[in-house]
Amino acid sequence: MDRDLSDLLIETYGATINDIVNLNGDLKIDTFSHSLKLSSCMMEFVDYLRKLSVEDLTKKIKHKERDLFINYIKNLTLVQYDKLIVLCWWHDIGKIKIRKEILTKPGKLTEDEYKEMSKHAAHSANLLRELGFSDDIVASVFFHHPKNFSEKKIYSFLPAISLLEITDIYTALKEPRIYRDEMLSTQEALKILQSELEKGLGNPFYKLFIEFVNEKEKEHYDIFKRFENTTLQDIVDKSIHYVDKHKQVSAAPVVTIK
Ligand SMILES: [Fe+2]
Ligand SMILES: [Fe+2]
Repeated sequence: MDRDLSDLLIETYGATINDIVNLNGDLKIDTFSHSLKLSSCMMEFVDYLRKLSVEDLTKKIKHKERDLFINYIKNLTLVQYDKLIVLCWWHDIGKIKIRKEILTKPGKLTEDEYKEMSKHAAHSANLLRELGFSDDIVASVFFHHPKNFSEKKIYSFLPAISLLEITDIYTALKEPRIYRDEMLSTQEALKILQSELEKGLGNPFYKLFIEFVNEKEKEHYDIFKRFENTTLQDIVDKSIHYVDKHKQVSAAPVVTIK
């Protein structure tokens, strides 16, 4: 087993879970289960997209550079496919650096707390860069909340971001959360997803994602289950393929945190 990867996973997920259990007596936020549910939702959606015809994709993807996204979906390699899973598992690892009072706050965050929370993406990217993860994984993790950036080209440079953004928001909405007492219905969650995406850069897969969720619901198919039995060891075993221990770290993009 690779010590660095597994230590970081245990430290992150273990610490968060213990804190929540101790604080509330029940598990309301759990970064580990969020990451597994996200990977399930992401890969179900990717499989759904891959089965669609080019005509369907052309009709339903909304973006100036639509062909780029159609090509991305239709020509996804096995490695790219696998990296999407790894990306989901590690995207929020930077929460380890966020103060626990903020992570576990039962109410709405203040502006300053929100700002601190938003830095988890940069923290994740820095941690993964230090471990030697491939640059595309590091960059995708850095931009995984694209609404915090004004750069309109993020989706085009890193098409995986458009999939990660939409599935991450929806997964979070469908989970029990410390700041929300009730579970949201599918339609409630889709409504909030829409308003969240409207604050952003115009996610090209919005329409297709709504169709995907509604179709799966009609079939009573649980889109969050695929990776539910994944262990920390499974995560390390898969991730190791995308870590280059001998990489010159200076060659990777330098991510600074304000
Ligand atoms: Fe995040
Ligand atoms: Fe997330």
